[in-house]
Amino acid sequence: MEKYIINGGNKLYGSVEVQTAKNSVLPILAATVLTDDKVKIFNVPNITDAKNMVKILSGLGCRVAFEGNDLVVDGSFAEKDEIPRALAHELRSSVFLLGSIISRFRTAKIAYPGGCDIGLRPVDLHLTGLKRLGVNIKEENGYIICECDKLHGDEIMLDCPSVGATENIMLAAAKAEGTTLIKNAAREPEIEDLQRFLNCMGAKVRGAGTGTIIIEGVKALHGCDFQPIPDRIEAGTFLIAAAMCGGEIELRNACAENISSLLHKLRENGCKIRLNNDKIILENHRRLTSVKSVETQPYPGFPTDLQAQITALCCICRGQSIITENLFETRFKHVPELRKMGADITVINRNAFVRGVEKFTGATVVAHDLRGGAALVTAGLAAEGRSEVLDISHIDRGYGSFEYKLRSIGGDIVRVSV
Ligand code: UD1
Repeated sequence: MEKYIINGGNKLYGSVEVQTAKNSVLPILAATVLTDDKVKIFNVPNITDAKNMVKILSGLGCRVAFEGNDLVVDGSFAEKDEIPRALAHELRSSVFLLGSIISRFRTAKIAYPGGCDIGLRPVDLHLTGLKRLGVNIKEENGYIICECDKLHGDEIMLDCPSVGATENIMLAAAKAEGTTLIKNAAREPEIEDLQRFLNCMGAKVRGAGTGTIIIEGVKALHGCDFQPIPDRIEAGTFLIAAAMCGGEIELRNACAENISSLLHKLRENGCKIRLNNDKIILENHRRLTSVKSVETQPYPGFPTDLQAQITALCCICRGQSIITENLFETRFKHVPELRKMGADITVINRNAFVRGVEKFTGATVVAHDLRGGAALVTAGLAAEGRSEVLDISHIDRGYGSFEYKLRSIGGDIVRVSV
């Protein structure tokens, strides 16, 4: 077990390179199973979710090797159609492989997925979608067991625009017979990135980024080299950290358009933000004013993956805020921890009512999930005194070299073994 020790109060100054998006890399790695050729993904982030996905691919028989920061997957050796319990529990995204594995082998067996404990996170939409494409599914002893004679295109209307279900259906439909239409599809930038990747492999997908995605099945897919988009959630976390601590930071390899909902809120708070090609520069030298309300929504609304961090920011702003979490029902586990640092927050159902306090004070807190953990780190950096953030394995799932990057811009943070 490891923890962070943070001496808060330093302003943040300097430049940080944004990593490749976790939520692009994971479904793209799942998609590599669709071809027998080699695929090279550039700049895969050094995060445990990606490493676990590599373990899963290796478990299927794929040959996977890092060349520096790039990952080469050779799917020609894939021979197993099963993801065992131990691995599936490490990584919720293992369920994305259902679409790819069934496409490849016509059978698939996957243990129910794990990942962040932030609510029920059902997979019913994934399964209903796959059934429409011709897959027979049964559930036995915690495993989802699938088989089909062939996959065929169909029209699928999602009850809600689930990111994972949209991606899974895209993967299964890429080589299905005929055309698949996904209606009420998720519109996240990572879905567009998956479309770009599939098309690089020879697929015929269009419409990603809108509510309707059309996939014309092709017979085979081929290898390619691919650079996924920058991580908008990591970028947002750094911007929020700088807004809380004060100072001036520059993000390189950032896509402002993909986090415009956050930039809008930060400007409303009083931060100065400048954009210059792939750079976002944030400057702040004073206590910020609260935003009145933040409501998480599917893209292009405010991302649920930045809710914990913006809640931490609102805690030390002047005035009151209401943060509403619409996507996941138990995504307020960071609130009791922030309270230990002096925050004044009351949670009622899906709403967190935040009354701004002058400052955080250092405390020992526990990371219960990935983004909540990152929010505690930003609070620790802004706090007066010393904080300890325990259970940081959650944070390692999604932030590569987090403490190195924070130290490079002036944060006083070290990782120690417990
Ligand atoms: C993805 C992201 C995650 C982000 C989330 C929402 C990845 C690897 N993870 O997760 O970081 O927080 O999008 O932006 O890309 N739902 C159902 N049935 C289903 C599937 C989902 O009811 O079969 C519900 C969920 O409970 C949730 C909502 O739909 O309330 C959104 O979930 P979804 O978009 O599927 O999130 P993930 O793909 O799991």
